[in-house]
Amino acid sequence: MALAKTEAAGSTGLLPEVLAFSSSLSLDIQLLKEDIVGSLAHLTMLSRTGILPKNDAQTIKKGLIDIFESAQNGTLTLPDEEDVHMAVEAQLSAMVGEPAGRLHTARSRNDQVALDLRLHVREMCAQILREMATLVDDMARRAEVEKDTVLPSYTHRQRAIPVSLGYWFSGFAQSFVRDAEAFRFVLEQTDTLPLGVGAIAGTSLPIDRQVTQSLLRFSKISQNGLDTVGDRDFATDFTYAASRFLIHASRLSTDLIDFSSGEFGFVKLDGNIACGSSMMPQKRNPDVFELIRGKTGRAVGNLVGLLMTLKGLPGGYNRDLQEDRQALLETGPLVLSVIRMLKLALPRCSFDKDACRRAIENDATQATDLAEALVKKGLPFRQAYKAVGSLVRRCQEAGIALGQVTLEFAQKVDGRFDAEVLLAQNPLTSVSRKQSFGSTGPDSLAFQFKALQNHADTIMAWATQVPSLEGLFQSLKEASL
Ligand code: ARG
Repeated sequence: MALAKTEAAGSTGLLPEVLAFSSSLSLDIQLLKEDIVGSLAHLTMLSRTGILPKNDAQTIKKGLIDIFESAQNGTLTLPDEEDVHMAVEAQLSAMVGEPAGRLHTARSRNDQVALDLRLHVREMCAQILREMATLVDDMARRAEVEKDTVLPSYTHRQRAIPVSLGYWFSGFAQSFVRDAEAFRFVLEQTDTLPLGVGAIAGTSLPIDRQVTQSLLRFSKISQNGLDTVGDRDFATDFTYAASRFLIHASRLSTDLIDFSSGEFGFVKLDGNIACGSSMMPQKRNPDVFELIRGKTGRAVGNLVGLLMTLKGLPGGYNRDLQEDRQALLETGPLVLSVIRMLKLALPRCSFDKDACRRAIENDATQATDLAEALVKKGLPFRQAYKAVGSLVRRCQEAGIALGQVTLEFAQKVDGRFDAEVLLAQNPLTSVSRKQSFGSTGPDSLAFQFKALQNHADTIMAWATQVPSLEGLFQSLKEASL
């Protein structure tokens, strides 16, 4: 229990209270695979450079592989140590004895933990991108299926202009594509090998960081140890990308929570995703979407927590950094669970086409189209806007929807309305009148669906380029010492 302690720090072990207070093992045990993969690469480098005798390297390698594989089949128990790094080393020395003491040559836990965290973030980003690709693809397909379902769009939560439901799905899918790009940026930020800078200043031993770099498949090597051991930028970028994705998921959820309420009545949730109330027998609640919104708070909390941990630290490694663990380790699984839940729940939300149509038939959401029809006749937009405003006002007074206006009624309000202009009064053809790029019109939508499917393929390709931990373990197992 005192592997990371010499007489210089006092010859007794740590007080049990201090060990309990300072231990990160309960959390960083989740980094066991990353830790062993990192150690195997380090060991291979030490052996190839002749810093470690081959026979000792062979013994240590066998021990590390045993630990990894017993973790895989669930038979591993680790000694109680300050952290996963010490626990692995202690376990190794219990298994192979003296040679275990050579593994930590030219390494500090400071560069070791930086490596483990990068390997973890890299693995999580790959999994997230893989799931994100299928989410975007699912949403693009659904958007296409729903292209003829028309519902109001909202600004200020007031009915605005009729749109295709395909436009709604495509809109949120676009934000998820940007999130995938953010995770790709995280991968770039993570793609630097930190191992080899030791505690802060490097080592006098003849290590070769390029060997470790290529074994672990990083494209860059960090250039300054003082920076490297204190750098958690990749971690803040990761929690930021996660927060941004969750905020998008949360906004989508709020739409669905509203749309499934009696007030909107647009969406019906399948029985197998709707939750009940323990008291009110009639309830069909959108808890899944409320929980996505709620979990967003946790994700943003993790980002802010991490930033607060970093704020005010001096250069180099400080033990405060251990507090990054909670935020970082929670984030990946949280994002994955939300993507998976969206993939499950979205197909189980059915839109009531009639209710959506009624919401635009009974209102004046095509007013902008009518104004634009006047503009097509040569009227300055401000005059057209005022004329339609007066018409809408008259409709409200008469208690009729804008779509019900007759030519006679319209001309009494403003003589510039004619039969051709009034064609734009049909709210159901509003969507098909839109022609601009990025609009809800049919050509724009067709472009969006195709573009989203291409994005989905690209995102999947990004995911598959990332080396997996499991793959690294297998190749390190086979690598010569
Ligand atoms: N458990 C520590 C952490 O996760 C490992 C690094 C400790 N380094 C040290 N010099 N005490 O950050």
